[in-house]
Amino acid sequence: MSERLWTEVDRYVDEHLIGPDPVLESALQDSDAAGLPAIAVTAAQGKMLHLLARIHGARRVLEIGTLGGYSTIWLGRALPPDGRIITLELDPGYARVASANIERAGLGELVDVVVGPAADSLRTIVADGAEPFDLVFIDADKKSTPEYFGIALGLTRPGSVIVVDNVVRDGALIDEGTTDEGVIGMRAFHDLLARDRAVSATTIQTVGGKGYDGFTLVLVAEPARPDADG
Ligand code: SAH
Ligand code: DHB
Ligand code: MG
Repeated sequence: MSERLWTEVDRYVDEHLIGPDPVLESALQDSDAAGLPAIAVTAAQGKMLHLLARIHGARRVLEIGTLGGYSTIWLGRALPPDGRIITLELDPGYARVASANIERAGLGELVDVVVGPAADSLRTIVADGAEPFDLVFIDADKKSTPEYFGIALGLTRPGSVIVVDNVVRDGALIDEGTTDEGVIGMRAFHDLLARDRAVSATTIQTVGGKGYDGFTLVLVAEPARPDADG
């Protein structure tokens, strides 16, 4: 089984379940033209985020790691007219590309692109006493995932959902001796989850056009269920 086959299957899924989408395709093209790395979620993954937001009835979304706004657009399209996304991006140039892509998607009114180190932006959001977020998507520098998760938890309510991207990294997640800072971050994140009785989580491995990786799905502060949470 090869990455080529995974990519072909992603193409099949795109053709059958997603279809042509000029706004999203332009977002990727303009991101590429501006020199942004090709590390956005795949269409299939973007649609999964979109469906999760709809299933959950999310109104307020927090995204950490905007890049060119590809996942932001998928999430934004899931929200009601009075919905809101705050998306955090370190790189001002990336944020400009994202803002243009988000504007073209007709989501300019819904989305706030906040430029700067996410940890600082998160602390500002906490200090401002922001309303809790229904859904959080953590997809920035992988080493800081435990820190982002900790702060984001304080910005949620019981029943909120947190999705964390790129947690498996070709299986490196289980490498105890890893020196990769990102993998160390994802292992620390799993240690946090294992200790935290106020969240319920699972990690799903994925293959596709972006290789072998995975995401973690977290439900915040539901009553502990010993049968499901060990
Ligand atoms: N969610 C996007 C992909 C994000 S890629 C999508 O799927 O479409 C990760 C992004 O995190 C990059 O744009 C990178 O610039 C940003 N990033 C890296 N370190 C950061 C930090 N400390 N604070 C905020 N953003 C950061
Ligand atoms: C990287 C970041 C991502 O968000 C992703 O989906 C893939 C790769 C990276 O920094 O390498
Ligand atoms: Mg990612």
